[in-house]
Amino acid sequence: MNKSAVLRRIVAGVLAYAGLTGHGYAAESMIELATHSGCFICHSMRRDADVPVPLAPAYEDIAARYRNRSDALDYLVDRVRNGTVYKSQNWEGKVNMRFMPPNVNVQYEDAAALVDWILKVGIKQQPDAASVRHEAMLALATYSGCLTCHGVNPNPDHRYVPLAPSFRDVAGRYQGQAGARDQLIESVLLGTLNTPKQWNNVNMRFMPPSVALRRQQAEELVDWILTLR
Ligand code: HEC
Ligand code: HEC
Repeated sequence: MNKSAVLRRIVAGVLAYAGLTGHGYAAESMIELATHSGCFICHSMRRDADVPVPLAPAYEDIAARYRNRSDALDYLVDRVRNGTVYKSQNWEGKVNMRFMPPNVNVQYEDAAALVDWILKVGIKQQPDAASVRHEAMLALATYSGCLTCHGVNPNPDHRYVPLAPSFRDVAGRYQGQAGARDQLIESVLLGTLNTPKQWNNVNMRFMPPSVALRRQQAEELVDWILTLR
């Protein structure tokens, strides 16, 4: 594999790991909520070609059916919370269960969040500006070698001493500190061999200078790092 192919794989891995976009994170937490709420005992995200008649409608099909109905949210939140026994069977013949039992353990707010999310399943969403920037900065940090030493997130395993502080830890220390931005930009460009050591619980003594980095890129990276929380 040549060098750029290797880099492309690293970037792809980093982006997948980071969840890629803002709504990526949101979708993950909604899948967690749906799992904890038991929804996936009967539902799946997409129709499975191997299962001609599923237990319950796939979320993608529910989205396609109700997305354009103005009362969809209220209507479906009521169906989810109270179940569909003795009510119209909207998926009769298409699913194997006659009705959805009431989801008594699901609070109103959670049911509303779940339905709101289900109604968007399958839509290709326009990622918001913050996600686009996050993705671009992750790519720049990868290509510039920063992520060879730094993680974006602290490693949750406390026995592990990282090479360099995670970017979220850096943000946590300097966010809102006057003058921090300029000092960090200089550290990134010139390295920290000749400056007082700032981080004790890391494996490398200093950061080497990033000689291939343009000043503007260092500014963009530091600005991005300082927005992480
Ligand atoms: C025990 C199985 C089961 C569980 C658990 C379940 N559902 Fe359902 N759900 C169904 C069935 C069956 C239908 C189709 C009902 C019908 O034909 O009207 C359905 C329909 C729906 C619909 C569409 C309702 C309509 O009128 O078209 C939504 C939205 C939905 N479920 C969301 C959820 C959510 C969110 C959860 C978890 C909190 C959940 N379901 C848990 C079986 C289940
Ligand atoms: C070879 C490993 C390595 C690479 C590559 C590297 N760093 Fe560092 N970085 C470190 C170490 C080690 C420290 C902690 C230095 C210290 O303790 O003072 C550090 C510290 C920092 C800090 C905090 C400085 C401070 O004063 O607290 C920032 C910001 C930073 N790095 C950003 C970057 C960026 C952006 C890149 C890519 C352009 C990068 N680093 C590349 C090892 C590295």
